[in-house]
Amino acid sequence: MQVGIDKIGLFTPNKYVDMVDLAHARNQDPNKFLIGIGQSEMSVADQTQDAVSMGINATMKYIDRIDKDKVGLLVFGTESGIDQSKSASLFVKTALKLKPEVRTFEVKEACFGLTAALMIARDFVRVHPHQTAIVIGSDIARYGINTPGEVTQGAGSISMLIKTDPSILALNDGHSAYSEDINDFWRPNDSRVAMVDGKYSTQVYLDFFTKTFNDYKKEKNLATKDFDALIYHLPFTKMGLKANRIAVEDQDEKTTEKLQNSFEASKQLSRHVGNIYTASLYMSLLSLLEKGNLPAGSLVGLFSYGSGAMGEFYSGNLVPGYEKEINPVADQAMLDRRQKLTIAEYEDVFNTALKDPVDGKELTSDDAAGTWYFAGTQGHIRQYKQK
Ligand code: HMG
Repeated sequence: MQVGIDKIGLFTPNKYVDMVDLAHARNQDPNKFLIGIGQSEMSVADQTQDAVSMGINATMKYIDRIDKDKVGLLVFGTESGIDQSKSASLFVKTALKLKPEVRTFEVKEACFGLTAALMIARDFVRVHPHQTAIVIGSDIARYGINTPGEVTQGAGSISMLIKTDPSILALNDGHSAYSEDINDFWRPNDSRVAMVDGKYSTQVYLDFFTKTFNDYKKEKNLATKDFDALIYHLPFTKMGLKANRIAVEDQDEKTTEKLQNSFEASKQLSRHVGNIYTASLYMSLLSLLEKGNLPAGSLVGLFSYGSGAMGEFYSGNLVPGYEKEINPVADQAMLDRRQKLTIAEYEDVFNTALKDPVDGKELTSDDAAGTWYFAGTQGHIRQYKQK
């Protein structure tokens, strides 16, 4: 029985910062951000977009094309949690009018959260082949104004439907996982912005990639040349480029070219949206589907990394007709709808979004009709509305 990704939806908020503007404001050479980091733009979430609202909006991209009664599981991966107790997934369940019998909860391990949710969903669907599962990753990456991590911020969500006989990517059995208790990146309860040992985090990422990729190939008796694409968690696109360079080292020209081209395709959305933590790897997948021109059957290797740290490598094969399940024109229109912020406007939006809203004061959204947003708290209960 094949189980895998049947639907995929991306949402990103309606504001962005241009990296050339940011570089000028921070007295940096723009090429450091454009080439050295590999980012052109980053999406910015204002006070009305949080992990929940972005997760609803990402799922709205396909909810009308699925049988809602079959959804037996809804798992939400995030490190931008809005409550220490109640799961973000319950707000989503209500907004999407899923049945009360759905099993639903939130998971956390930094950027690994959506992969954790996906693997839980894969196993659930194998045991309950007549049911489906929704998995959501939704995050706002915040390091703070004028920090080295600032250029690697972003905001957005990916939602996926997992089922038998999937229409997009059939997941292969097995995986290679590796974990270590380290402090490369973390966010204590009293901080709204992440703390990071930046250079160390990039080295650990590459070490975990090398280990899990090699272990996977050994376990499955595969060679690098057997993969048609390798895609990565992208905190910034240069990070994936470095991992891809390790992967193609010592490979023949044909393999190197193939894996460089597919990496180029997979990084395009990330270059404009920025880091969306849990959802970043799956935005790479969507970008590959939209811009990679890969034939059905192609073997795609996926590297998931979550600081703290957890790495996992696994693979899947593209399903015939997967192109029918994606909408590159609509996704481009979503990026194009974003309003460019001046650096002063961005700093204002950033600082406002860090503050708790005044209880009882309703927030309004300036996004398009149909968008879900956080409308403030009433009696300290979060309110979500559709515009
Ligand atoms: P930095 O100190 O500003 O940058 O921090 P740098 O001085 O190392 O420069 C970056 C690159 O730009 C270098 O290239 C420079 O040579 C180049 P590299 O040596 O790396 O190839 N450069 C230029 N290139 C062209 N023209 C120029 C120029 N000037 C310099 N004029 C750092 C960079 C990534 C450390 C920082 O932004 C940071 O701390 N970011 C946040 C942490 C992060 O993203 N870590 C990634 C791995 S951990 C991870 O992926 C998990 C995560 O997503 C969280 C989670 O799991 O939840 C973060």
